[in-house]
Amino acid sequence: KPTTTTTGIMPSPPQLLLTQDDLKKIAAYKAVEFVESGMVLGLGTGSTAKHAIDRIGELLQQGKLTNIIGIPTSKKTHEQALSLGIPLSDLETHPVLDLAIDGADEVDPHMNLVKGRGGSLLREKMIEGCCKKFIVIVDATKLVDYIGGSGLALPVEIVPFCWRFTAEKLRSLFKHAGCVAKLRVVGENGEPYVTDNGNYVVDLYFEKDIGDLVAAGDAMLRLAGVVEHGMFIDMATTLIVAGELGVTVKNK
Ligand code: 5RP
Repeated sequence: KPTTTTTGIMPSPPQLLLTQDDLKKIAAYKAVEFVESGMVLGLGTGSTAKHAIDRIGELLQQGKLTNIIGIPTSKKTHEQALSLGIPLSDLETHPVLDLAIDGADEVDPHMNLVKGRGGSLLREKMIEGCCKKFIVIVDATKLVDYIGGSGLALPVEIVPFCWRFTAEKLRSLFKHAGCVAKLRVVGENGEPYVTDNGNYVVDLYFEKDIGDLVAAGDAMLRLAGVVEHGMFIDMATTLIVAGELGVTVKNK
């Protein structure tokens, strides 16, 4: 049953000046309240998820959580969780997870997401698709009216082979929405960004709403060079948003 609860976090007066990172941490800590001992947890990737993993590690060290098993969604998260002493496993051993907690780049009013600006969308989608409950944690800047509405990238993981060909196929798929497709690059020499899976990422930018998200996602996945796209449609079960006015917990 859909529910929304809001908790105030801003004392008044005087007003606290919270940074975007403070808000990410507030959302993350709220999400960790839903973690129970004995759970198998999907551990997200990114600066918001990092706060949640730090908190889980802290509660484990304090003995307030026990018997947690984490399944990390990236090599970076794997390293972080190891350093905190969180016991780790994988999807082959634990194909059903109790709960995943992760950030997002965009959240639309139906709790559809854009993920992958941190480059981990494939493992995130594989793991978060196997969770009984998936809590998305964001600060309020991530809320959009429609997917693509931030004007920022929709990431698509593609194979390196003939990547220009695949990027052009993606662009032409969405030419009605004024799509621009850019290979993600890193470093001074503009080397292609390589994902944990050895693939490239093409970032898609749109001038207009792309419309039917399921159709758009299916069309991308039908292109042979596409591995996965960053739209997480109808996957989140709970959304936690931290903003100037407080924390909102919305259940689907
Ligand atoms: C990584 C992701 C991240 O969850 C997303 O980019 C949000 O990152 P941040 O919490 O740093 O804003 O999808 O692939």
